[in-house]
Amino acid sequence: MENVKLFTLRNPKSIVSEAFRTLRTNIQFTNIDKSIRTIVITSSGPGEGKTIVVSNLAISIAQTEKRVLLVDCDMRKPRIHKVFGINNREGLTNILMGEKVLADVEYRGEESIKSLTVVTSGPIPPNPSELLGSRRMKDFLEDMRDHFDMIIIDSPPINLVTDSAILSTIADGTIMVVEVGKTEAEAAINGKELLDKVNANLLGVVLNKIPTKERSYYNYGYYHYNEYYGDDEGGRRKKRRKSR
Ligand SMILES: Nc1ncnc2c1ncn2[C@@H]1O[C@H](COP(=O)(O)OP(=O)(O)OP(=O)(O)O)[C@@H](O)[C@H]1O
Ligand SMILES: [Mg+2]
Repeated sequence: MENVKLFTLRNPKSIVSEAFRTLRTNIQFTNIDKSIRTIVITSSGPGEGKTIVVSNLAISIAQTEKRVLLVDCDMRKPRIHKVFGINNREGLTNILMGEKVLADVEYRGEESIKSLTVVTSGPIPPNPSELLGSRRMKDFLEDMRDHFDMIIIDSPPINLVTDSAILSTIADGTIMVVEVGKTEAEAAINGKELLDKVNANLLGVVLNKIPTKERSYYNYGYYHYNEYYGDDEGGRRKKRRKSR
């Protein structure tokens, strides 16, 4: 696992890792009354940082010794295997086809994150939406709940394909990644509407790639859907007021 994109693993003391710990804590708070075990990460468009956020979030949770399963459900452009530097010959698709079980395809994290298990996408199927919406997928996630404290799912852009909406209906919660300065408001709203249509439980929004000039330390921000918590709240409010 050599990839530098795994900030939380390579540099746990960095400010980015700290931001992921904040995200982790916020999710735990969201979790107080409801049992949120399965979380889908999506975003409106491509390249906004879903895979990076989902990978670092999974590591950050695993660092608390919670048993975490990270599953690559982006069966169109799977990337989790690249981020972790592992092969993708076998993965979720093989499980869903009934050819393999978790133990055959899982990748266990290295020593410092023993409680992380990664399942890559496996071979790209011709019908991702169908596969992700199948009885087998539901059963797989249901089964995994007995073995893991948290199941974190990477998915494709919601405005482009229905896969994330489908996944949101079988997960307990969904988080949207928004790329600061790139994601158009209209696209983000459209994505949220698609989630609303399937009654997804939108837990919050992660702001990714916040320019460091504007915010000298946090590269990530997390908003709960209705309000948000964090050290920068005052600063951001001030800024918003200024721009009025
Ligand atoms: N906070 C960040 N700071 C710097 N680079 C980032 C950050 N987040 C993501 N990136 C980079 O942006 C690119 C896209 O990230 P990523 O693959 O995670 O996006 P994605 O939303 O999963 O894309 P896709 O829709 O293709 O699945 C990658 O090169 C990644 O390394
Ligand atoms: Mg991705």
